[in-house]
Amino acid sequence: MKILFIGDIYGKTGRVILKNSITKLKDEYSPDYIIANGENVDRGKGITPTLLQELLIIGVDVVTSGNHIYAKKEILPAMEEDIKLLRPLNYPKACPGKGYIILNKNNTSLCIINVTGRVYMEPCDDPFLSVESIIDEVKKEAKNILIDFHGEATSEKAAFAWYFDGRVSAVIGTHTHVQTADDRILPFGTAFITDAGMTGPYEGIIGASREAVIDKFLTGMPSYFTCQEGKGQLNAVFLELCEQTGKAIHIERINKVEKD
Ligand SMILES: [Fe+2]
Repeated sequence: MKILFIGDIYGKTGRVILKNSITKLKDEYSPDYIIANGENVDRGKGITPTLLQELLIIGVDVVTSGNHIYAKKEILPAMEEDIKLLRPLNYPKACPGKGYIILNKNNTSLCIINVTGRVYMEPCDDPFLSVESIIDEVKKEAKNILIDFHGEATSEKAAFAWYFDGRVSAVIGTHTHVQTADDRILPFGTAFITDAGMTGPYEGIIGASREAVIDKFLTGMPSYFTCQEGKGQLNAVFLELCEQTGKAIHIERINKVEKD
């Protein structure tokens, strides 16, 4: 089973570079599933029903999220429907939406789970125990499990991946918007990368305009972040999983920058 995971799509620049690249990516990697973190698609913060549809139309199968999932309130009613947008599983049960989904395609089954970290993040339930609470049930339906761990701390993401090594197919970190160079398969077969990176502005500060972010650091004053203009970058991860065992066979970083 081949999977393409697109790192956090940030603003219009991210949406455009993905739209312009997706046919080539499909030709090159022939993915059975395309998953994308889309919590920053609406001007860097949140997602709307229209932008969710845009991603689904170009071929994204499931959109994962994180701390900005509820930033745009228009998305709330949509999250109650059976749509392919996940919120972190370890949010309170009363929160709209669901934290995992099982897809069936090309005679394969894939479960995608979304969790968020607790280190330097908003308070939420334990991501380790949240996944423990569903994993046995999920495995009855899908041998292959991919987890988007949306978190700030590298240590928390690594601990999570090592803890679940051999029990899930892949742990892909998101949220920092910086792609890490540590893609690997752990000893018992779980593919892991600390962060898939960002699909968005190449010349900003993790997507936002340089001016606003630098000003915030210089003055400490609140600042309204806009998206950086200019060329884009596409960060993604390509995975190959064994359908029979649920283990990873291959993981590879993708990092493309638009030409001037
Ligand atoms: Fe985030």
